[in-house]
Amino acid sequence: MTANVSTSKPRKTTAAKPAKTSTPTPPPMFAFKAGSGPVAKVQAGGPVPAKGCDVAVVAAFKGGELSAAGKRADIDTDGLLSNACKTDKTLGNAGTCRVLFNPGKGVAAYVVVGLDDKEKLTPKALRKASSAAAEAVKSLKAGKVFFSLNQELPADSNDEEAAALCARTLVESFYSFSACRKQDDEPAVLPSFELACTKSTQNAVEKGANSGWAIACGMHLTKDLGNLPGNICTPNYLAETAKAMAKQYKLGVEVLDHKKMESLGMFSLLSVGKASSEPPKLIVLKYNGAKNPKDAPVVLVGKGITFDTGGISLKPGANMDEMKYDMCGAASVLGTMKAVAELKLPINLIVVVPSAENMPAGNASKPGDIVVSMSGQTIEILNTDAEGRLILCDALTYVERFKPAAVVDVATLTGACIVALGHVNSGLYSNKDELADELLQAGKKALDTAWRMPLDEEYHEQLKSNFADMANIGGPPAGSVTAACFLQKYTKAYDWAHLDIAGTAWHSGKAKGASGRPVPLLAEFVLNRAKG
Ligand code: BES
Ligand code: MN
Ligand code: ZN
Repeated sequence: MTANVSTSKPRKTTAAKPAKTSTPTPPPMFAFKAGSGPVAKVQAGGPVPAKGCDVAVVAAFKGGELSAAGKRADIDTDGLLSNACKTDKTLGNAGTCRVLFNPGKGVAAYVVVGLDDKEKLTPKALRKASSAAAEAVKSLKAGKVFFSLNQELPADSNDEEAAALCARTLVESFYSFSACRKQDDEPAVLPSFELACTKSTQNAVEKGANSGWAIACGMHLTKDLGNLPGNICTPNYLAETAKAMAKQYKLGVEVLDHKKMESLGMFSLLSVGKASSEPPKLIVLKYNGAKNPKDAPVVLVGKGITFDTGGISLKPGANMDEMKYDMCGAASVLGTMKAVAELKLPINLIVVVPSAENMPAGNASKPGDIVVSMSGQTIEILNTDAEGRLILCDALTYVERFKPAAVVDVATLTGACIVALGHVNSGLYSNKDELADELLQAGKKALDTAWRMPLDEEYHEQLKSNFADMANIGGPPAGSVTAACFLQKYTKAYDWAHLDIAGTAWHSGKAKGASGRPVPLLAEFVLNRAKG
């Protein structure tokens, strides 16, 4: 490459600095174990699960009809449930969740959840009911819970899927983030849940409970990493988390440092992190579960900007704290890896996280700077706040070496995606229709939906630069699309999809916190691939 372009390499004086000022481990008061999530597993109960249960969760339907599980002699030991449903018909109304204390000898308390019309039950309603039941169970501080809502199957669902959805929702409901508090108030403890089943459904319910539990565990990790502040969750912290996961699950791990990335020519990625005292990292985690170890791997790439100030194109101050969530793509691919490793799925999965902190400083990239990417294509950085694509493009070139079956990148990439799709759907882009459909279906099944967006050739026009092979921004129209088009220029060697999760990765306002999305979508996608 020409001499002026190679000035994108960090100057010598700054190159040595980062390693010294980095924080290898968080300060002790913030000691946090990655994945220190739920402990108890959700299990399928045997034929008589109610014995010893503190709380039983049962459904009621339109007109106060009690569910089959509620009518069981070993559950409704004192006739309390059937009597209550006879006298109070509203117990079956959708959205109701009532606690009945049992003065008798059996179950200590019942949580009765209204599901309205049995025939019209949807997965969303089942999730809502499970989550309401979990809140009730939490307030009761139950130790052992018999849970039967998973036996109420929505149309198009089966025992395994219903159990997975319920188990995931139950475990998810017990998430809380207390890593940065002086823990005087105790977080709610996940009770042991037994999901109702019969002899003939036990296998399916057990399988579903297991996968729902594992997905929730993955989501917990994703939420924890997202919620941690930028001064703790640095690129190095993500790398340490990956190393800890590698140890726990016997995964392959490699962390590429500044020097290694420089030798690979990743000057686009390096340009983003160069003004930060936290050195950038490229993290690679490998899970080899396929029967044939040589099977082409699924590769997930997650944007890991641990804080996005915008750089010299500085962001406005309001709500800038939320840019600690700019590594939620990274957190979600690590969370998916956790779920897959927990489930020991027969598949090969590689997770790659390009990670950096986007800061302004004297040595920061300036608007107009030109860098060479690992692919050799040059980029004119017209806006230093469009940094996600700058770190992703080098990671996307790097993963070519794995000869992937498919690559999905996940990124809190554009505010424009929030304008287009709000906080409901993630934006999905793909160069392959079959892969796009697979991901859309996985999202629907997992209640973690995405909406496909276009990649027409015409949009690429907006990325033309007068001075380099491309610009890093495409102007105001279709901002989420042009960001995806930028990535498309680096993904010609394989089947690729991109999820823009800017609107779905976290909640703002009073309930501020990471959502754990799109772990359910990704886990469902990988689960289906593992089934073959
Ligand atoms: N991380 C942001 C995108 C973002 C903004 C996600 C707000 C969620 C909420 C990304 O790095 C960014 O700053 N994108 C710019 C791109 C623009 C400069 C072309 C944006 O969306 O404004
Ligand atoms: Mn930005
Ligand atoms: Zn960003």
